[in-house]
Amino acid sequence: MNILAIETSCDETAISVIQTSEEKDNFKVLSDLVISQIETHAEYGGVFPALAKREHAKNLLPLLKQCILDSKLELTKKYNEVHDEDIHTFLEREQNLAEKLTAFLKSKQLPQIDMIMVTHGPGLAPALWVGVNFARALSVAFECPILPVNHMEGHISSILLKENYLHEQEALLPLKSFDFPMIALLISGGHTQIILVKNWAEYEIIGETIDDAVGEAFDKVARMLEMPYPGGPKISLAARQGIPDERVVLPRPLLNSKDYRFSFSGLKTAARYLIADLKEQNLLDEQMRANVAREFEYACRDVLLKKTFGAIAEYGAKGLIIAGGVSANTFIAESFKEKCEEYDIELFLPEKKMCGDNSLMIASAGFVNMLHGEKTTPQENITAIGNLKIS
Ligand code: KG4
Ligand code: ZN
Repeated sequence: MNILAIETSCDETAISVIQTSEEKDNFKVLSDLVISQIETHAEYGGVFPALAKREHAKNLLPLLKQCILDSKLELTKKYNEVHDEDIHTFLEREQNLAEKLTAFLKSKQLPQIDMIMVTHGPGLAPALWVGVNFARALSVAFECPILPVNHMEGHISSILLKENYLHEQEALLPLKSFDFPMIALLISGGHTQIILVKNWAEYEIIGETIDDAVGEAFDKVARMLEMPYPGGPKISLAARQGIPDERVVLPRPLLNSKDYRFSFSGLKTAARYLIADLKEQNLLDEQMRANVAREFEYACRDVLLKKTFGAIAEYGAKGLIIAGGVSANTFIAESFKEKCEEYDIELFLPEKKMCGDNSLMIASAGFVNMLHGEKTTPQENITAIGNLKIS
């Protein structure tokens, strides 16, 4: 079975094609492409939803064409023009995309695509909608069903992809090699959640942030330190030059609460006051910026570590998954590695290129869900859900 996966929940447009076979609980990656919009959004200091939507609409068709080429699938299928009307209906708000898509479909033979997987939430609603509507249009064109996928399940499943997935017959680590339950710590620009993973495709949120996400706090503190968007990697880089400084102290919000809630809004505000204070005293030079970055990373690391290990102990977890954009943070990842070794907990981190948003993680999550009996949804019933919860 050939499956096309689409991701447009935030500021990455991504499409991949995977191939499954009946007898295997694994798949081969035929093509995998991502276009990042980071540069487009950088001048606004954050992701601008209407702009993200416009960029997705612009990028989806070129990505699809390239993915079909890269996949080297035989072009055996002819598009049926009776579908023009449905395609225009599903892409009602993207008439330009509808025009270009139907022109492309008519211009050449198509590969056999047997299913489409698409992120339907959580994320920025306008961005999600473009992907969902594009998927609906393609499901009409390819005459195949759609499986909607939760973006956070995608991040969890990102750890399944082997380093050399593009060249492997079996791109995923063996699903049966994992011991459950596991705890998953999801840390991204939009989420900070601790999830109990009872099995593949069986998830329960046991705690999350009550305000900002940790990645969002990284981005905002970076902005206060006059570092460009996205600030996470910039803070991380600066923090390496940082040294302990008694004038630079930040709180560890909810560190001792007996639950798995996080709060990063207070930490961000404390950072704002601290930075303003240092500026006023003319102390905010490069070294001091690095010291603030370091203390901020330590504060985030301390609460993430304590809560996660609390959950591991309470639920008797055998393994820990850390995923989402912030899992690319070397200091945080190293801190977890050390503690996991100390407590003999197996740690699963995504490959660096799987940390950010991509469509292979969506294909992996959809595939895992399918193996566990999830059924496809009729195109007309699929909607984008900005605040979709994992379950
Ligand atoms: O998962 P992701 O790509 O998109 C969302 O679904 O949100 O995560 C993006 C977030 C951004 O806030 C970015 O600043 C953060 O991940 N990030 C990092 C690092 N690399 C990316 N945060 C800290 N350290 C990093 N090295
Ligand atoms: Zn994400």
